[in-house]
Amino acid sequence: MKLIIAAIKPFKLEEVREALTGIGVRGMMVTEVKGFGSQSGHTEIYRGAEYAVNYVPKVKLELVVTDALADQVVETIASKARTDKIGDGKIFVLDVESALRVRTGETNDNAL
Ligand SMILES: Nc1ncnc2c1ncn2[C@@H]1O[C@H](COP(=O)(O)OP(=O)(O)O)[C@@H](O)[C@H]1O
Ligand SMILES: [Mg+2]
Repeated sequence: MKLIIAAIKPFKLEEVREALTGIGVRGMMVTEVKGFGSQSGHTEIYRGAEYAVNYVPKVKLELVVTDALADQVVETIASKARTDKIGDGKIFVLDVESALRVRTGETNDNAL
């Protein structure tokens, strides 16, 4: 299993979610975050205003998926979240050791 962590522009969330459920993703954590990348937030536009502060609002996605689905998830997030403007975000992929569905006791791929 892989954990995919992505920071995306907030207004892209619904489009990304729809595309992900379309390829078989069944669960995801979503958190409103603030962050910065290589421009340190200084020159990013958010809701029409250039952000003069160091942190720009983003949405963080966290998804644990089967190894088989991981590449497709990354490609889907990347293509749907892209605007070609700065601050489009980043995607990280980590190995996951185990998963457990609390209600049923199912583990690993079966728990996703
Ligand atoms: N190295 C990093 N580690 C963790 N989060 C990051 C990193 N780089 C960027 N982010 C997150 O991704 C968001 C978007 O980054 P972005 O501006 O697109 O990156 P860059 O300017 O480096 O191309 C940031 O606001 C931050 O939340
Ligand atoms: Mg940036």
